[in-house]
Amino acid sequence: THQWRGIIEEYRDRLPVSDSTPVVTLREGGTPLVPARVLSERTGCEVHLKVEGANPTGSFKDRGMTMAITRAKEEGAQAVICASTGNTSASAAAYAVRAGMVCAVLVPQGKIALGKMGQALVHGAKILQVDGNFDDCLTLARGLSDNYPVSLVNSVNPVRIEGQKTAAFEIVDMLGDAPDIHVLPVGNAGNITAYWKGYTEYAADGVATRKPRMWGFQASGSAPIVRGEVVKDPSTIATAIRIGNPASWQYALAARDESGGSIDEVTDREILRAYRLLASQEGVFVEPASAASVAGLLKAAEQGKVDPGQRIVCTVTGNGLKDPDWAVAGAPQPVTVPVDAAAAAERLGLV
Ligand code: F0G
Repeated sequence: THQWRGIIEEYRDRLPVSDSTPVVTLREGGTPLVPARVLSERTGCEVHLKVEGANPTGSFKDRGMTMAITRAKEEGAQAVICASTGNTSASAAAYAVRAGMVCAVLVPQGKIALGKMGQALVHGAKILQVDGNFDDCLTLARGLSDNYPVSLVNSVNPVRIEGQKTAAFEIVDMLGDAPDIHVLPVGNAGNITAYWKGYTEYAADGVATRKPRMWGFQASGSAPIVRGEVVKDPSTIATAIRIGNPASWQYALAARDESGGSIDEVTDREILRAYRLLASQEGVFVEPASAASVAGLLKAAEQGKVDPGQRIVCTVTGNGLKDPDWAVAGAPQPVTVPVDAAAAAERLGLV
């Protein structure tokens, strides 16, 4: 029997590894591309969801982390460090365990979802909560990796981008060609950079006949690329993308401009509406930041910017279980019943 071997083995010839590279993997990637019936109806298009919450630690970060930790291992590193809004730290912590390395993580105090904190803790990472935002954490992490024996595994490490580009390969491999439009949330802007690199490589090699337009969406309170200036005090309920000074800003602009795409914003209200729609209409439970892609698509459709008949892929970046507070908040409290079939049937509206 065969199982998916992880992105490095599946795409070895397109990644910077050699035969002697010690591959550190949790068999990430190979995630579902799920047809989205309701989103397709609403847009008049063929919409698919690339469900990255199905990765081993519940987010797309695992694609980049298998590469970053593998290469750190190859170079003899004994410790890695990252700044994170939560998912990078969860992923780094897990892959560091596989590699037998120490993992240090810097997170903005009080601004990471509980599930992500739990992951970093249970995998035994050394966690520092920084009295600042993600951008401050990244500055600190860069400084530490410059001056101490610890290697940086944020997406400013180019091998992270190499790993994450495999999501674009998988989509083309599944659909037979690139979609017309690819939609995704933008935070530190590594992922939009990575997808564009993947699509560009496949098109250059003739595996795909074309490249999609890249549509990125930031949260309105954390939308530096849309505003064209650093946001000093970013805010949004989508804590994963609460970032005011994205490291890959220039690459995101290049992806936008070279693809004829756009980078726009969605409000927290629009994000939560898409979050609920995904769960209640498509059966896909994502974390709030992930819903920014779908919120953006719906906003564009309402503005008449989506021509019908196109093939569209939305990446949903992280699993809903990471941040369940938003699923519980505002939902009706379950009622309590005695151990009694008649009472249960009545409460369920079966009689
Ligand atoms: N969606 C989720 C669930 C994320 O965790 C992130 C980034 C993004 C989208 C945005 O991706 O940064 O490549 O533009 N999370 C990082 C972290 C910042 O630390 O986990 P991006």
